[in-house]
Amino acid sequence: MTIPDIIIAIDGYSSTGKSSFAKLIAHEFSFMYLDSGALYRAITYLTVNEGLIDKDGQIDSVNLKKRLEVSDIHFSYSPLGSKTFIGETCIEDKIRTLSVSDYVSPVAALPFVRDYVDGRLKEFGKKRRIVMDGRDIGTTVFPDAEIKIFMTADPEIRAQRRFDELVSKGSNPIFDDVMNNLRERDYIDSHRETSPLVKADDAFILDNSDMSVREELFWLKGLIQGKLDILQ
Ligand code: DC
Repeated sequence: MTIPDIIIAIDGYSSTGKSSFAKLIAHEFSFMYLDSGALYRAITYLTVNEGLIDKDGQIDSVNLKKRLEVSDIHFSYSPLGSKTFIGETCIEDKIRTLSVSDYVSPVAALPFVRDYVDGRLKEFGKKRRIVMDGRDIGTTVFPDAEIKIFMTADPEIRAQRRFDELVSKGSNPIFDDVMNNLRERDYIDSHRETSPLVKADDAFILDNSDMSVREELFWLKGLIQGKLDILQ
């Protein structure tokens, strides 16, 4: 199936498998893939690593803002996927740890952080032919995306997926900690003032509690076919 240079926006709750699905779409249709959460995670890593957050979760916004202006957060692409860097340092593994996950939602709720990331994401979308996943891609970043998907799944299943992912990366997580982090992030992401996680009116809901990623792709192809028939 060949498709034109459209934007596919994938939003949804944490650990619904957005990035696995987006990567498969990118591979299937030769699209560029961008994980917008990686930018928020990189900024959170910077915040934690440079001591700009105290143990009560208070963020030193003034210094974070200054630091962000001179930071060099970027992605490096290869056939194996993309990796996140700050300057010369690859931080791809570091941004996936629970210590970053614990603070990412409050950092991502800061309006100046959202402005910074939005600007970066919009640049990536200029050439279109991109699939991007996050929380506000179909609502704020690319409200004109041709295909919008809102992903959800049972919270227990999502927590188990995140748990398995952490274990596969060599961590030794406690299931309840993973579950609590997930619930807390769902809450903050959906209730923040700037660009909260909400389904775009024109997004299609995909509940993948009992679906494989291949089944998701099959579902998407049907959706795209229908949409293209309407556009033509
Ligand atoms: O997709 P993820 O779990 O890696 O995202 C990490 C956090 O980043 C998530 O808890 C909320 C935030 N985020 C966001 O607010 N907006 C986006 N477009 C992407 C992620």
